[in-house]
Amino acid sequence: MLAVLSDELQAGGFDRILFSGDASAMGFEEEVTRAAYLLKIGQAGATPGLAVPGNHDYCTASAARAGHFERVFAPWLVGEQIGDAIYPFAQRVGHAWLIGLNSSTANRWPWDARGGVGRDQLRRLEELLQRLEGGPRILVTHYPVWLASGRREPRVRAMRDLDAVVETARRGGVGLWLHGHRHTSYYHPPSDYAPFPVVCAGSATQSGRWSYKVYTLEGYHLRAQSRVYHAKDDCFHDGEAFELELTGGACTAQGK
Ligand SMILES: [Fe+2]
Repeated sequence: MLAVLSDELQAGGFDRILFSGDASAMGFEEEVTRAAYLLKIGQAGATPGLAVPGNHDYCTASAARAGHFERVFAPWLVGEQIGDAIYPFAQRVGHAWLIGLNSSTANRWPWDARGGVGRDQLRRLEELLQRLEGGPRILVTHYPVWLASGRREPRVRAMRDLDAVVETARRGGVGLWLHGHRHTSYYHPPSDYAPFPVVCAGSATQSGRWSYKVYTLEGYHLRAQSRVYHAKDDCFHDGEAFELELTGGACTAQGK
């Protein structure tokens, strides 16, 4: 399945591949390197991408400190940045901005699956969003805003500073939030809490749930087409499709 996925991603003629984590189970260098190889990161003629790490990529504090993900995924972690910090970063793709935000952290206890953006990165996100000119802004994180049910994640699995991140995204004119982490795919329309659509990619690699999405953006209109792997004929086929309107496009915090 991974080989078929890898080939299909390259043959699709896409402008960008978006990877919202996890690349690994334990954050080992070998795992991350294998994932990057399958995504053809840094290989000649390969489709460029944008990536953010998942919580498993920082499974232990030593994996996070070692920076395996940042080193191996480096070609997909570039764009407009604030100072020397890797995250967040913004890539201009056609008329749109794609913004990679790191919402994963290493945690001390095995049962602790919380994430967080942190005050410093949040400040940089605010500055970055103010700096970007024109076009829809699409935020890419690992952690979700909502569960499929519309509920918030339980505290031990949630992004610690979600309220502040959502508020910063709102002020910064984010028009769409894409994320990973949850293994099923779903989406939510704009709400009072998060005034932009939120789409969960679902797992690309879990047996029986393997799928990815093809996004086509025209102006502020987005079409999402699921591609689902069928083991019987070793191919991806079209699955569910949906369309939505991106919101925002202007930073309301401009000039503050
Ligand atoms: Fe995750």
